[in-house]
Amino acid sequence: MDLEDGARAVLEELKRQRQEGVDAVYLEQETIDGLRTAMGSMEAKVSSAVVPEAKPEPKPAPKPILESAPEPPVPSNPAPLVEVAEVKPKPIVKPARKAESSGPSVLPSPPEVNLPDGDPESRMSWLRDLVMACPTCNANLNPGAKVVFGVGKPDADVFFCGEAPGNDEEMEGEPFVGAAGQLLDKIISATGLTRDVVYIGNVMNWRPQHDQAFGNRPPTEEETNFCLPYLKAQLEVVQPKVIVALGRTAANALVQPDPSAKMGDVRGRWWEFEGVPLMVTYHPSYLLHNPSLIGKRRVWEDFLLVMERLELPISDKQRGFFE
Ligand code: URA
Repeated sequence: MDLEDGARAVLEELKRQRQEGVDAVYLEQETIDGLRTAMGSMEAKVSSAVVPEAKPEPKPAPKPILESAPEPPVPSNPAPLVEVAEVKPKPIVKPARKAESSGPSVLPSPPEVNLPDGDPESRMSWLRDLVMACPTCNANLNPGAKVVFGVGKPDADVFFCGEAPGNDEEMEGEPFVGAAGQLLDKIISATGLTRDVVYIGNVMNWRPQHDQAFGNRPPTEEETNFCLPYLKAQLEVVQPKVIVALGRTAANALVQPDPSAKMGDVRGRWWEFEGVPLMVTYHPSYLLHNPSLIGKRRVWEDFLLVMERLELPISDKQRGFFE
């Protein structure tokens, strides 16, 4: 991959994070310098989307717009995530999407799922077979990839819902097994739970295709709508006490917050999906890309609310993780 491809991939990832509600990210100076060099060789349109100080001479001292601001003190009653430097939405590069250009461009109507009666294990096993054999899911797979269905306890108290499989997940055929998944596992274990006593699923059963060398793109509305009945059927089998929507895509799919609301306003409070309390929090990949303590603290605060709702014991140590 050359420098230009790398820059495009970084931009694509930034675009994805913006969708997740990320207002600012921290980038190493080295990365910013690399981006600047690559941007220099890309179209002016692209360059101006990322480097605002594109005035000719005198050249301003390199001032990355993407670095994080110093962390302010965090109030005990969390305000929306306004603490990080705001990056005004700018038209970041819009690459052609493979799914739009060379994949099936029109998906069939969303499937109708009529779950059989039975215990959660057998119903989930029936549903899994149905999804794994879904012709549309299979037709949309990247080469060598597998359809990804949820994992965990079919009658778990808590159901975590992510966006879509990434590269690691589509290769293994299991949700949240890559870097974001390892972080999710750590957060889950910090609550005293383990991966096998919860249920982990995604809005999408396949990884949305794109033309970039790496990174992911969020699913289109059509893709989301197609997979939604499968997600809803998993929720119907599990009948969790609490749903945790990890990131914007899951929140949009399940509770449709105001599209203009920032993630900072959507997360950290209770919503409801068909009568089940639903907590929206940041996606683990947000934390991976934003190493600030504030993000981790926010997510932990959301998880404490989930623990309270599940009536899980909470030790002083757990309460004070970030104090
Ligand atoms: N991100 C998701 O949203 N889901 C996965 O399974 C992995 C990463």
